[in-house]
Amino acid sequence: MVDWLKKAVFYEIYPQTFCDSNDDGIGDIEGIISKLDYIKDLGANALWINPCYDSPFKDAGYDVRDYKKVASRYGTNEDLERLFETAHEKGIKVLLDLVPGHTSEEHSWFVQSSKAEQNEYSGRYIWTNSWYEGIEGRPYIGGECERDGTYMLNFFKCQPALNYGFLKPEKTWQKGIDDPDCLKTREAIKDIICFWLSKGCDGFRVDMADSLVKNDDDNKSGTCAVWRDILGYVRTDYPEAAFVAEWNNTDQALVNAGFDMDFFLNWTGNGYNSLLRDYETPGDDCSYFKADKGGDITRFLDEYLPRWEKAKGKGSISLLSCNHDTPRPRKNLTIPELKVAYATLFTLPGVPFIYYGDEIGMRYLDLPTKEGGYTRTGSRTPMQWDSGINMGFSKAAKEMLYLPTDDAEDAPTVEAAMADEDSIYHVVKDLFALRKTQEDFDADSDFSVIIGEKDKPFVYTRKDAICAVNPVNSEKSVKVKELAGKNLIYVIGSVTVDGDSLKMGKGSFAILK
Ligand code: NOJ
Repeated sequence: MVDWLKKAVFYEIYPQTFCDSNDDGIGDIEGIISKLDYIKDLGANALWINPCYDSPFKDAGYDVRDYKKVASRYGTNEDLERLFETAHEKGIKVLLDLVPGHTSEEHSWFVQSSKAEQNEYSGRYIWTNSWYEGIEGRPYIGGECERDGTYMLNFFKCQPALNYGFLKPEKTWQKGIDDPDCLKTREAIKDIICFWLSKGCDGFRVDMADSLVKNDDDNKSGTCAVWRDILGYVRTDYPEAAFVAEWNNTDQALVNAGFDMDFFLNWTGNGYNSLLRDYETPGDDCSYFKADKGGDITRFLDEYLPRWEKAKGKGSISLLSCNHDTPRPRKNLTIPELKVAYATLFTLPGVPFIYYGDEIGMRYLDLPTKEGGYTRTGSRTPMQWDSGINMGFSKAAKEMLYLPTDDAEDAPTVEAAMADEDSIYHVVKDLFALRKTQEDFDADSDFSVIIGEKDKPFVYTRKDAICAVNPVNSEKSVKVKELAGKNLIYVIGSVTVDGDSLKMGKGSFAILK
């Protein structure tokens, strides 16, 4: 893991809806630049910006038409370079989003690849030998191009899979991972990474990082080998560049592929899901942080602890408040519940990520789909800055907005949250400040669980600090011998310590040192 990540706190920006500087109803790079001081003041020192490249936007920009060109609706390449520079002046790093597994069907590589005559790009995507030969077990498309073949998809219909080869090719059209065509795909991705790093970007969040090699084995050994090559190459010239994988597998992403960070993603029923979003059964929300039904940390720890052991010394398992694919945590958690949740997420090991607007408790809105968002759309609404026109996001006419703002009477805003000392914004800010000043909360500082049982406070150490969490509606008392000589340095709710006795009021959190 590169060194600067130890103290990094990431803020994810969905560029469409963060800040609109030219009042056309959609966010832009200039808008992001204008809010860097806000982000710095909150205490985040790194950004992850969702794809901002030229695209037909059938999947919100994850369908890239030109990797080296900023989408005109966001500005120009020069604007993005100015964002890097201005952010750096303020001590903020910037990660872009790399989409290596597929392009848009409108990318010039694909347009060339779909032509009947052989050309440089014929092998850039995965094509069968004939219009009537399908691809078993994988989504594919036929009948759309003059080329006699069908092609594999990586996600939506608009996203043909780039060709990194098959671990064990079985058909004549399946290439091995070291086939010249597959090596050229790799070279093309290295070139894109280096292009943006040379302009001042600090690294990438990597979309579907585990998806490159097809028919890979259970360990994803083919995909890991490709990443070792790509990252090894890039790091020779850019040793400080940081890479976070959308992978959700510590062994594969951090140990074998060589990423600096891997997300613990929200997959139904998994350990991370059990913390904030365990509401698959309607009316029965058993999320750990839900005050009336929560309190079982074992579902999280059973998965997290083995991962943490493997990640030690290798990189970060990054915990997120949310992302652009996930319902905002405010969907089911109240503000007091969220405070305890954030305090826990942001004091556990690893490099944390907060999604824009989560710091003020923005809601998940029930909205029709936009740019391939479907149920994700409700987490992508405009940032709520103040009580002005369109909540300070844009001065465009309401019907021009990319998505509507939250029109609830009590919709949170940055302005109101900053003015209210008791707001969730101040909890986030205090926690980020603690991470800045106390080495205990560096991404790689020691971590051990003192109490990790159902219906008891969750108590853990970070280096010399002890954290204690009680998310439920009732008071909990425990004896913790490690508390001797420690004092409370941060508290949410009511917590009292007497020698080795710890009394945690309902919905409380404490740090002792
Ligand atoms: C994961 C991204 O986070 C998501 O938004 C996108 O739709 C898919 N990958 C496809 O690129």
